Amino acid sequence: MTATVLPESCTGTVQGLNDHGEGLVNLSGQCYCIRGALPGERITFAPGLPYTPHARFSPGRLLSVEKAHPRRNLSPCPLGEHCGGCPLYSFDYNAQLQFKFGRLKEALEKVLSHTSAPPVEVQLRPAPQVQGSRHKSIRYFAKGAEGKAKLGFYAPLSHTLCPVDCCPQETAAVNAFASSLLRLCQEHALEAYDERSGLGILRHLLIRDNGTGTLVAQLGLTAPPPLSFEQELSRLGAEHQVAACYLCVNEEPGNSVLKGTLRCLGPHDHALFTLLSHEFFLKPHTFTQVNPQVAELLYREALEHAGSNPKGTAWDLCCGIGTMTLPLARRFGRVTGVELAAPSVHVARNNAILNGIDNVSFVCADLAAFRPQPGSAPAAVIADPPRKGLGDEGLQLLRALVPGTRVSAIYCEQKALLRELPRLLESGFELQGISAFDMFPYTFKLEVLLKLLKRR
Ligand SMILES: C[S@@+](CC[C@H](N)C(=O)[O-])C[C@H]1O[C@@H](n2cnc3c(N)ncnc32)[C@H](O)[C@@H]1O
Repeated sequence: MTATVLPESCTGTVQGLNDHGEGLVNLSGQCYCIRGALPGERITFAPGLPYTPHARFSPGRLLSVEKAHPRRNLSPCPLGEHCGGCPLYSFDYNAQLQFKFGRLKEALEKVLSHTSAPPVEVQLRPAPQVQGSRHKSIRYFAKGAEGKAKLGFYAPLSHTLCPVDCCPQETAAVNAFASSLLRLCQEHALEAYDERSGLGILRHLLIRDNGTGTLVAQLGLTAPPPLSFEQELSRLGAEHQVAACYLCVNEEPGNSVLKGTLRCLGPHDHALFTLLSHEFFLKPHTFTQVNPQVAELLYREALEHAGSNPKGTAWDLCCGIGTMTLPLARRFGRVTGVELAAPSVHVARNNAILNGIDNVSFVCADLAAFRPQPGSAPAAVIADPPRKGLGDEGLQLLRALVPGTRVSAIYCEQKALLRELPRLLESGFELQGISAFDMFPYTFKLEVLLKLLKRR
């Protein structure tokens, strides 16, 4: 069999972007997917072999840009080409927004055109701060040169590590601690875990910043580390304002961040963070929004739509640690939060105590199993489901609400939004507004709030 000889370079025009943010160039019946190339650009690239034999799609590596997009980012992140965190890194911020907001609006218009809903304007809420806006980081370890551990993010659609020292999207405190911790691991000659062989001890590093540079960190391992390392880690934590440093030992194969036994090295078991004038416990295994500034904008608008009724009740479905449940409790007589994850419910109850709020109760249940008390119809509901959306059971809960109920439904995944919006409209909801929040700058994602009113 003769090996295919590829030209060193090809030149072409980028016709569009795929869902991974790669520019698409069609040449001689082959479609090349090129990271960093923007629509309309004339580029030179190194073509690669098809992803699978005879496939129509092949990778390409950008070599030069002959005619640039007018909104090309002139100082892109040097990691952008390799790391999976920022597919839209070659666009400047306004162009990113225009691009992803345009895609969302087009998709919504298409879905709504098949319903009888009157047109609704979609509002865009940009991120107040772009650089340093991600307050949560998950980095993985891998073996580097001479067996030295390296730390970084996975390249797009792979488990190939892109080493990262400083990520401009993450906070300064997160970057500084991650760098120091890697040095410490290298000094102690700790080996990175290798998924294929199962050898090595260092798995991942999960860090959360409370918004003021105080951190909660979790080091993922396959076995307990040497005592000398633990002691040095505690010392390092104190230098970096780590309020709670956890070891998470998971002996199982795979690379899940949430599996394993947690052990806290102190000095505390949590940090505190503030949102909408309420304080919350920050812990390693409970959900918190990545971008607190945008989360506040989103929460405020969801709460405003919910309204207030001191004699009425409200629900917060998929409430996490109660970040919207507690502000909701200031507006309604009685509030119920429903959440599947037991650790989050535990923290949510403590958050209520921390804030002196006693008109909330938290139910630890799957939405599918949540049975509201008869005769306790809520006046308002906030629903903030995971990526897969509300699902049949969640939609059924909303369908059963009485006319006049206000619902703020939040979607973090466009596919689920487009799937469930028509079903919400079919079940008697009027769509009163849509707002899209840029929770994740440099990515395709927008967090979408649907403002709904039950009409029948
Ligand atoms: C996008 S988070 C939102 C959490 C919270 N509203 C916030 O803003 O921090 C989704 C939450 O839904 C919870 N969840 C996922 N599936 C669920 C289910 N079937 N029933 C109830 N809660 C669920 C997750 O544990 C997670 O806390």
